[in-house]
Amino acid sequence: MRLAAAEKIKKAASLPDLEALRISYLGKKGELTAVLKQMGGLSPEERPAAGQLANEIRATIEELIAARQKKFKEKEKSKRLVSEAIDVTLPGKSSPIGHKHPISIVLDEVTDLFIGMGFSVASGPEVELDYYNFEALNIPPGHPARDTQDTFYITDKVLLRTQTSPVQIRYMENNKPPIRIISPGRVYRSDSVDATHSPLFHQIEGLVVDKGITMGDLKACLEAIAKGIFGGGTKIRLRPHHFPFTEPSCEVDVSCFRCGGSGCPMCKYEGWIEVLGAGMVHPKVLKNGGINPDEYSGFAFGVGLERITLFRFRIDDMRLLFENDVRFLSQF
Ligand code: PHE
Repeated sequence: MRLAAAEKIKKAASLPDLEALRISYLGKKGELTAVLKQMGGLSPEERPAAGQLANEIRATIEELIAARQKKFKEKEKSKRLVSEAIDVTLPGKSSPIGHKHPISIVLDEVTDLFIGMGFSVASGPEVELDYYNFEALNIPPGHPARDTQDTFYITDKVLLRTQTSPVQIRYMENNKPPIRIISPGRVYRSDSVDATHSPLFHQIEGLVVDKGITMGDLKACLEAIAKGIFGGGTKIRLRPHHFPFTEPSCEVDVSCFRCGGSGCPMCKYEGWIEVLGAGMVHPKVLKNGGINPDEYSGFAFGVGLERITLFRFRIDDMRLLFENDVRFLSQF
């Protein structure tokens, strides 16, 4: 039996085969078990020798099976090591990484320029009180300037801010001069969508308040920023204008960065491109912000962020900035 078992174990082709063999010898109804059961029929003298032999055979069979099992397991392991191997030299699959939207790129550039000049960044709510958006900015109820800002009203007193200028008042209420802030953010006007208009757009407000601030400071500051955004050769031009919250007020043009001022389709052959509104903070506005206009003066400005993004990247339609088509956005 020992020899036959050894032969069969050697030929077993798999782990389940081995298990079947083990059961056929050592299981409850196995061959060896049957032999052990018959030992009761032997004489007391024959029993010890027969018992010893049976035990030896059992031990041999168990050992052989264990050894063979080990071999099968090792083989399986090395097979798995081969089949599950990873070739670390294969090129990886790259997952696409997004990048900043052109509006964010320009906003970050502009913010860096201002921070370099000692400004800090402030913010205010997009859902704003009529008081901050209009009244405190010297635009009382019924003032014609309200008609030019097609406002989304929520109630008589609450609206979506039409400009970032309300942050001027909110900041002055809570901070003493010297003040040097910019405040970028979303603003809303009931405009129809076209190549140069959107009901939601972004502005960057600027406010500087200190003793002895003049229009010269305003001009020098904006010139430095214009050169930073549009290049070192850029010139600026101030044209008289009117805003209720600045006095005097101006509109600021930059020399066309495409033709340098000689005239081209970009600047509509004027040599200049209008980029922002600005002026000296109106004494009433300083007062509304809790600052004494006899002691302090300041300047403020407001830039349309979409407009300068379009110029900066030579994009000719504002809608492209809002449609979020990746074929367009991936170019920046
Ligand atoms: N808030 C003005 C606008 O939206 C821009 C501006 C800001 C003008 C600050 C002067 C000073 O048109």
